[in-house]
Amino acid sequence: MKPRRFTAPGPLRGRIRVPGDKSISHRSIMLGALAVGETRISGLLEGEDVLSTAAAMRAMGASVERLGEGSWRIHGVGVGALLQPGHALDMGNSGTSTRLLMGLLASHPITACFVGDASLSKRPMGRVTEPLSRMGAEFTTSPGGRLPLMMRGAAPSVPIEYRLPVASAQVKSAVLLAGLNTAGTTTVIEPVPTRDHSERMLRGFGAELEVEELNGERVIRIRGEAELTPQVIEVPGDPSSAAFFIVAALVIPGSELIIENVGLNPTRAGLIEVLRAMGGSIEDLNAREVGGEPVADLLVKHSALKGITVDPAVAPSMIDEFPILFVAAALAEGRTVTTGLEELRVKESDRLSVMAAALTGAGARVTETEDGLIIEGTGGEPLRGSANSRTKTQLDHRIAMSMAVAGLASRDGVEVDDTRPIATSFPMFEVLLDGLAG
Ligand code: S3P
Repeated sequence: MKPRRFTAPGPLRGRIRVPGDKSISHRSIMLGALAVGETRISGLLEGEDVLSTAAAMRAMGASVERLGEGSWRIHGVGVGALLQPGHALDMGNSGTSTRLLMGLLASHPITACFVGDASLSKRPMGRVTEPLSRMGAEFTTSPGGRLPLMMRGAAPSVPIEYRLPVASAQVKSAVLLAGLNTAGTTTVIEPVPTRDHSERMLRGFGAELEVEELNGERVIRIRGEAELTPQVIEVPGDPSSAAFFIVAALVIPGSELIIENVGLNPTRAGLIEVLRAMGGSIEDLNAREVGGEPVADLLVKHSALKGITVDPAVAPSMIDEFPILFVAAALAEGRTVTTGLEELRVKESDRLSVMAAALTGAGARVTETEDGLIIEGTGGEPLRGSANSRTKTQLDHRIAMSMAVAGLASRDGVEVDDTRPIATSFPMFEVLLDGLAG
């Protein structure tokens, strides 16, 4: 455990750059490892989750090398040519590595054992083992369909048409990645759109992938036995990491911050829309395209936020940002109501109950419901904070960073019980924060 107390720093002013997008970083390594030849990546997120993906792809035969900060070179083996790993694949804390790699392996003649940390070992894997079993893969899971698990990929695998029962980009991506080495067309139907990085990047690497809107659903078809062409990729900044600094600047009086290089893919930008609707001053500067994704620098100024009823339809486009939205809501004027957030209970922690307890411990007024939180804000006054107790973050990086921001906007500060998990997605978080506060 590495506890730390976060206290009011005074206004946040200046300019920061957020690290590379986690979702895009994982996919860059996976697809690079399947393309014969040299893929170059710049701006890769060097968080522990992405390093778990890199280690797994090396264990299956790809050459994955770090050339310098964020700069990586991959020599891929070709679709269908991944090798049997010589040891268990340790996924650490990373649900994305686990679920996407299970998809990749499902159509390779490989037997693999997946293990992970205490948080990952509690998370449901049935959502991927179910469609991948239909494609022919075999799984022996721990009770409840969890890690550790053994899988045997199918060769040949069978194409399926799969309608997603949960709005999950990880499940969608697992099936599409399995479809890469499956003869014929694999189809995923998304009733509710989720982040579309897999579709964009598979196309970018030369896979035949089509997306069609049919009766209000997204139908995604991928042609199997694909050949991928190596790419030069620039990873845009992660909006999910920017989120902590956006909210910090909005809630700390006197703040004015420029956050550079923030990815604004519409399937990821829900938080910014919701914060603007709450009265947050967030301006896009220098809008441009990086790596095929819309990006801008954001100018964020301290604002008087108002509570809001959040439309559950935006949830998939800000699914990782609810913990930090709850912090913004705790400091807004009036009531914020969120619903339709059952998925938050199966993230790195149960983010509804963990955030309800953490914010209550810091003096916020929070009611937990089955599928959301109802929060009565302070109207801009600092939270009380907690002089004597420690916030339990349950190995969840986003809870740790959210409660750090709550601490910055509190009278007595907030002590986070363990800051180590922050390194899974944002290793430089504390350095950036301390640089601004200093
Ligand atoms: C991710 C999808 C989301 C998100 C996760 C990253 C991805 O998970 O929470 O941090 O890269 O596809 P779900 O697909 O389970 O919603």
